[in-house]
Amino acid sequence: MCPPPPDNLPPDNPPLSAEIALPSPEATARLAAWLAPRLRAGDTMLIDGPIGAGKTHFCRALIQARLAALGQSEDVPSPSYTLVQIYEAGDCAIWHVDLYRLSGAGDLSELGLDEAFATAICLVEWPDRLGRGAPATALRMSLAPVAGDEDARLARFAAGDPRWAALIGAIGSAGGRA
Ligand SMILES: Nc1ncnc2c1ncn2[C@@H]1O[C@H](COP(=O)(O)OP(=O)(O)O)[C@@H](O)[C@H]1O
Ligand SMILES: [Mg+2]
Repeated sequence: MCPPPPDNLPPDNPPLSAEIALPSPEATARLAAWLAPRLRAGDTMLIDGPIGAGKTHFCRALIQARLAALGQSEDVPSPSYTLVQIYEAGDCAIWHVDLYRLSGAGDLSELGLDEAFATAICLVEWPDRLGRGAPATALRMSLAPVAGDEDARLARFAAGDPRWAALIGAIGSAGGRA
């Protein structure tokens, strides 16, 4: 009979997390441009942070980097009133979603997000509005202001799905600074 495993072994799927300092808007844009080619159809990023944290700035830089790689360029307005802006980027659509002004669960089901989560790249601001509808496979990023430096943010990444292990590992080993 096998002996029981010792208590101090790590779990099979440890929660994945990393943080990185973003000392300027340009650093946030660089992080977004680094992430852009690493996302695939069916990937969702849930992006938390207070108003003015830089969620839209990050999404804009990511979408524009992805479009630039295809020789395309587009304005990326905040979707705070439209709730969703969709970009056709080659064979993969990018959904930029801002749920801050979502008025209720009915509105949420009309947006068609479930299908987008399965088939597109989705970047979701104010993802708390999704409640239990947030995809469990999503990559979470929270942007936090840094006291005393109005251009600095701290980004924290977390995921439960092992598909993000290499990416979160790379962010963690970047020395915590973009
Ligand atoms: N390190 C940083 N990262 C991202 N944005 C920053 C940073 N420092 C200052 N900013 C500024 O903060 C503002 C963030 O606005 P926005 O992206 O619309 O916020 P949110 O979508 O989170 O409400 C932008 O004007 C941006 O230039
Ligand atoms: Mg925003």
